[in-house]
Amino acid sequence: MSVETGKKLWGGRFEKPTAPIMERIGESISFDKRLYSQDIRGSVVHAKNLHKIGVITREELDSVIKGLQQVKEEIEKNQLPFRQELEDIHMHVESRLIELIGETGKKLHTGRSRNDQIALDVRLYIRDEISIILQLIINLLETFYNRAKENIDTVMPGYTHLQVAQPVRVSHYLMSYFWAFLRDKKQFEFTLGVNDELVLGSGALAGVNYPTDRELIAKELDFSSISENSIDSVSQRDHVLNFLFACSQLMLHASRICEEIIIFSSQEFRFISLPDSLSTGSSIMPQKKNPDIAELIRGKTGRVIANLNNLMILLKGIPLAYNRDLQEDKISLFDSVDQVKIALEGLTAMVQEMKFHPENMQSSLEIGFATATDLADYLVNIIKIPFREAHELVGKLVSVCNSKNKTLYSIDVEDRKKISEFFVGDKYFEAISLLKSTDKKLTYGSTSKERQLEQLEKAKMILDLI
Ligand code: ARG
Repeated sequence: MSVETGKKLWGGRFEKPTAPIMERIGESISFDKRLYSQDIRGSVVHAKNLHKIGVITREELDSVIKGLQQVKEEIEKNQLPFRQELEDIHMHVESRLIELIGETGKKLHTGRSRNDQIALDVRLYIRDEISIILQLIINLLETFYNRAKENIDTVMPGYTHLQVAQPVRVSHYLMSYFWAFLRDKKQFEFTLGVNDELVLGSGALAGVNYPTDRELIAKELDFSSISENSIDSVSQRDHVLNFLFACSQLMLHASRICEEIIIFSSQEFRFISLPDSLSTGSSIMPQKKNPDIAELIRGKTGRVIANLNNLMILLKGIPLAYNRDLQEDKISLFDSVDQVKIALEGLTAMVQEMKFHPENMQSSLEIGFATATDLADYLVNIIKIPFREAHELVGKLVSVCNSKNKTLYSIDVEDRKKISEFFVGDKYFEAISLLKSTDKKLTYGSTSKERQLEQLEKAKMILDLI
């Protein structure tokens, strides 16, 4: 405010005060206050530029920087009251600066618009948040790696169609998420690249009437390039879209493992259990221990996907250049940042703490005929019949087992012999062995111990380089 209470910083041409509804609908301070440190960082560098191009003196620059530093401290100590009539974080910082240092403060907005100011603030913010998110992803990757290493000799059912398919090592299952979250990390790094452009100096849309040294500002704020077109710079939000997509992809991965944690910890599976510290009870059913943490992450995924959709819908009809609709992009952005960070922490805690129950995994493997394919391959190898015929014979054996309520391990040898004379002896049991099944997998990336060790070694190399 231009110190005169009630008068807007932009109020020169207005004769009547702003209506309360205009103030309520127009304000963004309730959410963009979280950009205060980026806003102040940008203003300090903008002021240095103003000094360099002769708009303010050395003394004035010192006073602006000192004043901005004080505004920052006041915000951090909750001493600066946020007021709806001051609209946004930019106005709060500027009006407080004017209160603190007087006339000089009024020079700060020379050659700058809130349109390029907010565009800069958000880019700084995205960069700051990505560095935190990357660290949280690294913690999760390390956790997957450690748990995989510990559980390399445990066998669990691998599923297709949520029907038991083939035995896989627990390490194989866990490492599948290692690679997925590593891709998410790359997606955020890609977003950093898209985001890495200095937009300040674009003004409202057309550029500014001062020889703003954009190279200097870019260097000071650590941007590796300068945006090419001032209209584009204040209107597009591709970097935010990229960021929200990276968040959505990550949450999709998180949601899928959460779904598995929920299923695998149910009484029907009992493959894993979460510790009490990560579970909740029921206010009515005394026996209950619920995996709420996984359900909440699955639920938050909907929000994060919606945030991406929200921004796409927001952007699709906006004519160039800046329109006030763009103020709303931050609600989606901030919410996704919060949800992704908390989800990563929650997921890391679960992966770290969950216990595996190999005996229950084994009984599912047995009743699911998980090594039926291995038995067919055994026939192919031993009697050189085509795989299709072997498939048929094993299918018959499975059908007999089903009708007698037996597994491949408990079915009578007489019943086996009736289908094939080769379904006997040690060779038969070797063919259906669960652990051996995993080691018969030869291909790169597969579930055999050798391939798992190879994969873990590669992952370790990647983690060491991060
Ligand atoms: N608070 C606005 C935003 O978040 C920036 C201000 C631009 N306002 C304007 N009237 N041109 O986008």
